[in-house]
Amino acid sequence: MAESREEDFLLAYQDSCAGLTLLLLHGFPLNSNLWEPQMEDLRDVARVLAPDLRGHGLSDAGDEPYSMQLMAEDCLGLLEAVGVQEPVVLCGHSMGGYVAFEFYRQYPEWVGALILVSTRAGADSPEGRAGRDRMAERAKEEGVAIVADDMLGKILAPQNFEADEELANYVREMMESTSLNGMVGALAAMKERPDSRPLLAEIDVPVLIVCGEDDQLIPVSDAEEMRDALPNAELAIIPGAGHLPNLEQPLEFNELVWDFLESLREEEEG
Ligand code: MLT
Repeated sequence: MAESREEDFLLAYQDSCAGLTLLLLHGFPLNSNLWEPQMEDLRDVARVLAPDLRGHGLSDAGDEPYSMQLMAEDCLGLLEAVGVQEPVVLCGHSMGGYVAFEFYRQYPEWVGALILVSTRAGADSPEGRAGRDRMAERAKEEGVAIVADDMLGKILAPQNFEADEELANYVREMMESTSLNGMVGALAAMKERPDSRPLLAEIDVPVLIVCGEDDQLIPVSDAEEMRDALPNAELAIIPGAGHLPNLEQPLEFNELVWDFLESLREEEEG
């Protein structure tokens, strides 16, 4: 509880944000609905902001060529537009993690801590780059729904894909709502993204890395590699989750983030 005093008038107010903004960046080809369990459960410990990256969800696709830099600029634009003035806790899932690395590269003064979810620091291999081109062609020729269908069985842990139809449909809906320009643009941006491994040693803020034990898209070894190269990182591997641990095991995920945010607050309070 805080007080604001003007002459004889006292206005009491409560503020759940405590100065801490949690900026959640979704992966490909998803949108801010990825973060539904976090929007619900973490708003008491932080101001939770979750944009739809350009071309995804309800955001415009725009006409400019996509790059990680452009998407990082969009995120800074959002922070400025909503009046955030303090460094944020930046949480990037998969492609959102690639954006987070670029955001840190461009605007380190805006990052108080990082949460890296199901992501990797390295750039695409030549095979990976060729795969991006094939996926973009397929999306153009056959539509985004076909690509979504292909990805669905890999984005969730096999046991969750089999057992949880509601979850699978929720994820499918997100993927199918991505615009063609957004899908093709994001594939090009991921293909051209720089290798962020040299950046890791310079990231001096606290980092929480989270991945699902059964991730079929980005192996746990990539998370371990990041943990070993970052000066101040902890890694949590969530059992029973694939590439979307925050949706597949939301309670475990939220508890990790909650504890991490608490530890940042305690550190700040000295
Ligand atoms: C994602 O989930 O954002 C993508 O799978 C990342 C990638 O394709 O590299």
